[in-house]
Amino acid sequence: MLPVAFFLLIFRMAGAQEGYTLESPDGRLHLNVALNDDDRLAYSLTFKNRVVIKPSRMGFLLEKPEMALQFFKVINTEQTQWDNTWKPVLGEVSSIRNHYNELALQLKDTQDSGIMVWVRFRLFDDGLGFRYEFPGQESLKYFIIREEVTEFAMAGDHTAFWIPGDYDSNEYLYNTTKLSEIDALAAAAKEKDIAFPSLIGPDAVQTPLMLKTEDGLYINLHEAALADYSTMDLVLNKQSLTFTTHLVPDAVGNKGYLHTPAHTPWRTIVVSDSPEEILASKLILNLNEPCKLEDTSWIKPQKFIGVWWEMHIGKGTWDLASGKHAANTENVKKYIDFAAEFGFDGVLVEGWNVGWEDWFGNWKEDVFDFVTPYPDYDIALLSEYARKKGVKIIMHHETSGSVTNYERRIDSAFRYMKHYGMNTVKTGYVGRIIPRGEHHDGQWMNRHFIRVAQKAAEYKIMVEAHEPSHPTGLQRTYPNWLANEAARGNEFNNAPTLGITPEHQTILPFTRLLGGPMDFTPGMFHFKLNQFIPSRTTEVRTTLAKQLALYVTIYSPLQMAGDLPENYRQHLDAFQFIVDVPVDWQDTRILDAEPGDYVVIARKDKNSEDWYIGGITDELARNMKVQLDFLTQGQTYLATIYRDAKDADWEENPAAYEIKEQRVKPGSVLNLALASGGGFAIRLTPIP
Ligand code: NOJ
Ligand code: CA
Repeated sequence: MLPVAFFLLIFRMAGAQEGYTLESPDGRLHLNVALNDDDRLAYSLTFKNRVVIKPSRMGFLLEKPEMALQFFKVINTEQTQWDNTWKPVLGEVSSIRNHYNELALQLKDTQDSGIMVWVRFRLFDDGLGFRYEFPGQESLKYFIIREEVTEFAMAGDHTAFWIPGDYDSNEYLYNTTKLSEIDALAAAAKEKDIAFPSLIGPDAVQTPLMLKTEDGLYINLHEAALADYSTMDLVLNKQSLTFTTHLVPDAVGNKGYLHTPAHTPWRTIVVSDSPEEILASKLILNLNEPCKLEDTSWIKPQKFIGVWWEMHIGKGTWDLASGKHAANTENVKKYIDFAAEFGFDGVLVEGWNVGWEDWFGNWKEDVFDFVTPYPDYDIALLSEYARKKGVKIIMHHETSGSVTNYERRIDSAFRYMKHYGMNTVKTGYVGRIIPRGEHHDGQWMNRHFIRVAQKAAEYKIMVEAHEPSHPTGLQRTYPNWLANEAARGNEFNNAPTLGITPEHQTILPFTRLLGGPMDFTPGMFHFKLNQFIPSRTTEVRTTLAKQLALYVTIYSPLQMAGDLPENYRQHLDAFQFIVDVPVDWQDTRILDAEPGDYVVIARKDKNSEDWYIGGITDELARNMKVQLDFLTQGQTYLATIYRDAKDADWEENPAAYEIKEQRVKPGSVLNLALASGGGFAIRLTPIP
């Protein structure tokens, strides 16, 4: 008893009522939770004695019952430990250790409402997750959230890698500034190609938010298991350098409707003094619920091509009326032939269905019915053609934001897919949402995205969504939800205003990709995007070798080869890497990484002894050493290296690459020269 009494005394002397501490399993992280004299709860966090989060307040403003749920007394605590290993259905590694110490506090409101709340903290070796839990209780049944007021108080004016806070789009280019220099509205004003922005204000940013302190600490703020709740944005107080949560409102301005028992998503803080450790973190996946599907045998990693980029660059169109309809039977057959020739699993066909003549920007409810092909698209014939060639057609459901319409038709749409032998759908949410007034990132839509994953699972259908809210690791729970866009992908190279800068792909792993797999659509082999419309000035700002490397640096179990078959035929030797590269892995090693500068990752194929390495740089050319320590002892490998040619440069000479073969052993060092906007991709195969 004595140590506990002593413990409380120390905290009283420090001006607080009570204090609780928790250590990470390896002892590097320390969490402190305290109730101050005014009954407010605050948590703080250190990593190796360096401050990560200064004392930061927690709680809610409720709309109904109308009150501030911020004043508490602790009535119970629980401290537990957890250590197990689990296997993701698809992933970057074949097994994941979930190891944490947990502290849960049972709190009672001190303002006489009788409301009881638990706050649960999980401290891992690589960071902290915490959430609020509302048990079923007489004093709180249905309630409405006006705002969550969780804070993240920063210990300095860190460098931040951020995009503007927005209720409807996460497709912005990343900005790198000091915290005090964040100006989300100024950054957004430069973005002319975000169709329907819903900005929050000058100090609002989105998560995953990456931060780097002056003394080299890397901190990432995000959330995990975002289910029946609104997406979290963060608003910075520039005086105190404190972020406060800002939830996405619904059509009438409320931010959450909960019915006890209920809980919030986990608020996550991944932290390390090694940037590689940030990229290797599995904290967000570990905080998600285990797989809810009993049978996962039908869930497959996939590579695909598509009748897609040719519309973006103006060779054809989605609609029929233009007279250049791309999704016609003859053209789709050619794509199926190409997929079969090179062993791709799928062919995405966009523009196959009636409605594209006026799908965009009208905020109208009835756009597509998802079951009526254009007359020049013979779906029965093509399904049979694809089946004979061992290829699957990937369905496209563009909702144009009319989500009520999609929900009404989703069963018939999925039945239609199954009838024609399809098992994967790309969904899309371009435009303002219907129900009108809802946002892409609100609670209503977050529930919708999960409903689609669940409904698709009933039909044994795999899903990838474009324009969803930010991913939070839900692919663990619903592994048929293969990937998402939810960031600026390769297609933005064709956006006239800002396009994609060469550093963008070095920031993605530290931000968006921490939430889950991305359908970035790598593999562009033709760089000036005026192939079909001579007046176009857009271009892909990478080298060809960097496009190959993205298949390794951007993890996804669903990867597209984005460019046109005829552009691949120009460089079949380099295309071989895309043909070979797996999309499901048994192991991953983050070899070298710095946000905004470079990323080098090695991954081992799930089904063979082959390793693949991808390395990318920003606009700076650099020499990089890759040490092959991870190879199997006693084994010699053939390394096939796809790298920038000496005169390569993203702007002047992007398609200049060379392919070299050499023998390597464990411990060998490869010296690689990366061009400006360049990269390298390596396949390592054991020599028998
Ligand atoms: C936007 C998506 O990101 C893109 O991939 C798709 O082609 C268009 N919407 C049309 O649905
Ligand atoms: Ca998009």
